[in-house]
Amino acid sequence: MFNLTEIDKKIFNFLLDVKKYFNLNVEFRVSGGWIRDKLLGLPNDDIDIALSNMTGTDFVNYIKKYPNKNGIIGKDYQVALNAEKSKHLETAGIDIFGLKIEFVNLRSETYGDSRIPTVEMGTPETDAFRRDLTVNALFYNIEIGEIEDYVGGISDLKNKILRTPMDPLKTFNDDPLRMLRVLRFQSKFNDFIIDPKIIEAMRNPEIREAYKKKVSTERSGPEIIKMMSGKDPSKSLEILFDTDLYLSVFQINKEDIHEDGIKLDQKTKYHKYNLMTHTVEVIKNLNNIMLSNNEDPKMRGVMNIAALFHDFGKMKKGVQQPHPKNEGQMRYIGHEIESAKMADNILKSIGIGEEDRNIVNKVILYHMAPHSSSDWGNKGIGNFLNKTSIPGKEDKYPNLWKYIFYHAQADNMASQPDNYDDIKQQQMFNRVNDFINKPSGKFRGSVLDGNDLMQMFPNILPKTGFIRDFMDIVKNLQYDGKIDMTGVDEKNIPIQIKEQAKKELLKIVEQNDLLEKYTMEKKTMFQNWYKKIKLSQKEDIVFGPSKQNHKYQTGERVRDRRKGLAIPQEYGIIEKVDGDNITIKWYRKGKKDPIREKFNALEDSIALNLIVAEI
Ligand code: CTP
Repeated sequence: MFNLTEIDKKIFNFLLDVKKYFNLNVEFRVSGGWIRDKLLGLPNDDIDIALSNMTGTDFVNYIKKYPNKNGIIGKDYQVALNAEKSKHLETAGIDIFGLKIEFVNLRSETYGDSRIPTVEMGTPETDAFRRDLTVNALFYNIEIGEIEDYVGGISDLKNKILRTPMDPLKTFNDDPLRMLRVLRFQSKFNDFIIDPKIIEAMRNPEIREAYKKKVSTERSGPEIIKMMSGKDPSKSLEILFDTDLYLSVFQINKEDIHEDGIKLDQKTKYHKYNLMTHTVEVIKNLNNIMLSNNEDPKMRGVMNIAALFHDFGKMKKGVQQPHPKNEGQMRYIGHEIESAKMADNILKSIGIGEEDRNIVNKVILYHMAPHSSSDWGNKGIGNFLNKTSIPGKEDKYPNLWKYIFYHAQADNMASQPDNYDDIKQQQMFNRVNDFINKPSGKFRGSVLDGNDLMQMFPNILPKTGFIRDFMDIVKNLQYDGKIDMTGVDEKNIPIQIKEQAKKELLKIVEQNDLLEKYTMEKKTMFQNWYKKIKLSQKEDIVFGPSKQNHKYQTGERVRDRRKGLAIPQEYGIIEKVDGDNITIKWYRKGKKDPIREKFNALEDSIALNLIVAEI
């Protein structure tokens, strides 16, 4: 048994007083997770009371009529249920001694096609059997002070097993969300094992279909958050993937992904495992790293969610490309962009809020960046920090960069575990950390803005891109300590700092003849800057890459940047590179065939400015 707290005792005595005063024919049983947690020695003040012979609303009305209630009860409320139309499900809550206590009658339920059951008054036994897990189906009878166990919940708790009171097919068919609940309890109580019959039921395509049909999408979100914030979500996730239940929970259309789905054989020298094992291992590692650094549990959950989706894009049809040089191998250029998109759509549909989604998005988009961070100079580090901060939320989430590094570490450990280089990883992390601790580290922008630069160099056209390039030079000067950034406030930059920056910038411009270079480029850029491009389906067109020295390669994805704007629904895949002639197939999202009509007029084509989309 377990010990009641003082407050538990006071609440229970109060309920018995109300019963006595009105001479009610009612029994009180605490039900659900409260008993489970008490038996496990965990705190839980979420007291749900199951009533015999009476609805929750009726009993709360008695409490309100009880004369000696002053100073004991607070506000009362109706509890919204999916089955609220059913008279027998009237659940009501009221604050007693400061705790929210919920009351509902014992039930016996039959479910038809929807999640909404037909409900009748039940006995403790019928009520226990209609619950999700035996360990959640225990009662504490407050009058006799004893636990009542109709389903073997106590021995399952002792043996640490998660089991359904009835055949799991029946329990899950009644409410398929329970499959996700089982996984989240497994993640919370990570030393529990799941009854193999449960896993077998999850593999049943009809049950997975029932999930899609009966569970409204936004109910999955809170369960996913709880699951990913548990002590160790990796095992639950493995089951979610292995049983294919993830397809139903995340509403993934099988047509859109590789036939092996998450079990995709990655076929690359960078990965030892298939996609599923890799993802599970990343989560296991990341969760451990977050735990051992004592990171906020909520952030740990969000980071685990990012890890769950970080490579999802690799499954997407069209993202897997044969490696042009290494026979039999695949590559996944730009998979992080696809992963980020998939994650955002899925998370939105299951009701995850924008703030969490923004974090997930940043982590996924930049999860590859730290892998090449040994090549970064100060500017590279500054750019990384800029890109990985959330506009307007820089102060709330100053450590996103750090979490992305943790993710990269977890990712590396799960890619080629035998070659994992802990020291290199630590050195890269330290470089960014040192950078942040310098006075310039907090200041991410350039102290000179576009206006300053145009005033300084009235003869250079903005079209040459000099503003961006010169700002980069200024940022480097800041990072290198050539401009003293101590205490400089981004919103209010002192004149003398700007003057110092102008002086240093002019030195660099003169030393490198930049003035001449950019003025000349103005003349030549429209003549020499283009390469010939052939759309495989149509006529030749001409384009200018935004990165002049970029070497285009087959398989690479490119975007059209006419008028400076990338058109997100469209992209090209480079088919052939032959000197300056490049053949590209042009696609529109969601269409299998290349679109041909795209560039009819040569005029259109001339303005086409391709950027490499996924570098
Ligand atoms: N329950 C169920 N099926 C569901 C939801 C809930 O059988 N789909 C039952 C379980 O017996 C559960 C109880 O209702 O214990 C209360 O539900 P809830 O408060 O969601 O879960 P707890 O078990 O209390 O878990 P926790 O509060 O720790 O999340």
